[in-house]
Amino acid sequence: MLNGIFQPGLVLTGNVTVAVILLVAAFRVLEGGLAVGVLLAVVLSTKRFFSPLETIAMFYNSFQSAQAALEKVSGLLEEVPRVQPPRDPIALPAARGDIAFESVAFSYGSGPEVLPEFTLRIPAGQTVALVGATGAGKSTIAKLLARFYDPSSGAVTLDGVDLRRLSTRDLRRAVVMVTQEAFLFSGSVADNIAIGRPGASRAEIEAAARAVGAHGFISDLPEGYDTDVTKRGGRVSAGQRQLISFARAVLASPAVLILDEATSSLDIPSERLVQAGLAKLLGGGDAPAVRAASAHDGEGSPTAADSPDGARTAVIIAHRLSTVEIADRVLVVDGGRIVEDGTPAELLAEGGRFAALHGAWRDSLK
Ligand SMILES: Nc1ncnc2c1ncn2[C@@H]1O[C@H](COP(=O)(O)OP(=O)(O)OP(=O)(O)O)[C@@H](O)[C@H]1O
Ligand SMILES: [Mg+2]
Repeated sequence: MLNGIFQPGLVLTGNVTVAVILLVAAFRVLEGGLAVGVLLAVVLSTKRFFSPLETIAMFYNSFQSAQAALEKVSGLLEEVPRVQPPRDPIALPAARGDIAFESVAFSYGSGPEVLPEFTLRIPAGQTVALVGATGAGKSTIAKLLARFYDPSSGAVTLDGVDLRRLSTRDLRRAVVMVTQEAFLFSGSVADNIAIGRPGASRAEIEAAARAVGAHGFISDLPEGYDTDVTKRGGRVSAGQRQLISFARAVLASPAVLILDEATSSLDIPSERLVQAGLAKLLGGGDAPAVRAASAHDGEGSPTAADSPDGARTAVIIAHRLSTVEIADRVLVVDGGRIVEDGTPAELLAEGGRFAALHGAWRDSLK
């Protein structure tokens, strides 16, 4: 408002004043009461009077917007995170991936209860699919597991350790979540994948990209893996962004992988490709290529991939039921409650909600 009124107002006043002076003085010049030189002097000095005033107005405007920006920045700096890292964390360098929600209830802030109290155990290595209607609470369960929020009551544990007792470093290494909104940072494609495990070699990065079927399109970019994703020509589509963030998660090789609608922007062939990679990754440890690359340079953090059975715990949320095919277990969520729990085959045989959802999905494919 101030910006819009103050400076233009001042400019208007200045110009109107000049016009009035010009008019009045011009008549006096015509009458012969004033020399032309004097008229010129008066007009020029009026202009000179207003121009510093305009500069001051401009400065005042910048000052105001700087002040507003400062308020926003300091507001952000003063924000106290609700999810605090513990003072004396319990070390968990190599998580197996046993997950338990012990009598967990949750509501966002002081809002209504989104998840009424429930208990859920997911043994290490299991692939669990969460299905249910929009707003049922699937993402909320995933966010609790990644500790984006703490439960209102009860505890979420990883290998028997409360997530609130884990250092941020251990937690983020053990639990990785890929969401629908894949975010790319400025830098090359390789840099973006390497965020999953800083210090990863080029061979490992490429292996991760291959595992999710991203290698093809990355090679087609102008400079391949070194293409800057913020530059012209390096821009990638939403689906490709998702593949890159997938590769990032694969490279991180976490004990627990959460995919929240992570394949939603992919077309059917790409989704199939990702699923094939995923099945390999989740089923028997790392995809052979990734494992070979890791073994090759002989370092990398100890994760589930190095555990004897090598399987990874996965929680997959997807509206497209094709993704559910690779799951060992399906949980149907409705209104924050888990209403069905079993293998896909069992639930289909039971003829409950999952069977109905599956039937509807089948019909939609015809
Ligand atoms: N940040 C938030 N603050 C307050 N309420 C929220 C927040 N996020 C989600 N909710 C509420 O929690 C409920 C469950 O949301 P959630 O995102 O878990 O659903 P969902 O099962 O993942 O749905 P979808 O399939 O659409 O992704 C909804 O009623 C929603 O309105
Ligand atoms: Mg969701």
